[in-house]
Amino acid sequence: SPSDPDLVERARKAKEKLGDKVFVLGHHYQRDEVIQFADVTGDSFKLARDAAARPEAEYIVFCGVHFMAESADILTSDDQKVVLPDLAAGCSMADMATAEQVAECWDVLTEAGIAEQVVPVSYMNSSADIKAFTGKHGGTICTSSNAKRALDWAFEQGEKVLFLPDQHLGRNTAVRDMGMSLDDCVLYNPHKPNGGLTADELRAAKMILWRGHCSVHGRFSLDSVNDVRERIPGVNVLVHPECKHEVVAAADYVGSTEYIIKALEAAPAGSKWAIGTELNLVRRLANRFAPEGKEIVFLDKTVCFCSTMNRIDLPHLVWTLESLAEGNLVNRIEVDKETEAFAKLALERMLALP
Ligand code: 13P
Ligand code: SF4
Repeated sequence: SPSDPDLVERARKAKEKLGDKVFVLGHHYQRDEVIQFADVTGDSFKLARDAAARPEAEYIVFCGVHFMAESADILTSDDQKVVLPDLAAGCSMADMATAEQVAECWDVLTEAGIAEQVVPVSYMNSSADIKAFTGKHGGTICTSSNAKRALDWAFEQGEKVLFLPDQHLGRNTAVRDMGMSLDDCVLYNPHKPNGGLTADELRAAKMILWRGHCSVHGRFSLDSVNDVRERIPGVNVLVHPECKHEVVAAADYVGSTEYIIKALEAAPAGSKWAIGTELNLVRRLANRFAPEGKEIVFLDKTVCFCSTMNRIDLPHLVWTLESLAEGNLVNRIEVDKETEAFAKLALERMLALP
């Protein structure tokens, strides 16, 4: 939808007044009306690195979700302030693993006598508490663009991986990229005693997958893939690894949001693509590449925005920028020192992956 010209002008003015003091990051799933004001756009891995590379900016305005703003705070210096334009922009997947549940899981692994062999690998899409747990227990963070490298590293450190919170990214990476079988993976359900697993099942597993998922990518099904292949002969199906295993197995290409963009940039004119990821990004790519004769459609028939990403809209961005320009620090995201120290350890292990 076209953005309100009055709000566009106010955002532009406030940003101009702030100058180099502010740096605006925009995740690929953000609305067009917000993305137009981003100094840099990217997937969660690129944005984490970009935030850390801007020491001169006093304010980092993170147009994305809460866990991304926390990661930016962890990776930036203490006097830089990370701001999330709407504090209600969370992530349902990140909320599926709480610190208490993960501590309980570690007790279960200890009881089964395997905790010493287990290396935690946590997806970026997790709270700072989970990242701190990961750092404390010798593990690393990963994103959808480096999950294989993170798992390669983890299996050099230990015999088993506890992968949290996204079961699909964990399973897809293990089976597609690491040559493991579905039987090497078990699913730990935090709502059941002992995760719903016996000690023998835990001992036999190589990958212990946390039972979390993304509600947006979880909507794509094998039917969506079959339907689109029928509707558009010759279509290339390209999906994000947060999709279910059966969807990923039926797709032609799989990758993070940055991978998806690069694949479409490299695609020949006349090619047809069905994309299984968030709708703001797919629509933007469809518009961008239509003049080059690339046909890009959304993988599913029903719309599927990430509702929490969408909470960051132009009115929230205007309010944030105007407040900062007037010297009012609003919506700061600040991780406490102890959590930050351990979470940083895990994030730095990720940034150091080969
Ligand atoms: P990436 O940005 O790593 O592709 O992750 C997608 C996502 O779901 C972010 O919330
Ligand atoms: Fe979380 Fe999924 Fe939204 Fe990403 S797309 S922020 S994983 S709910």
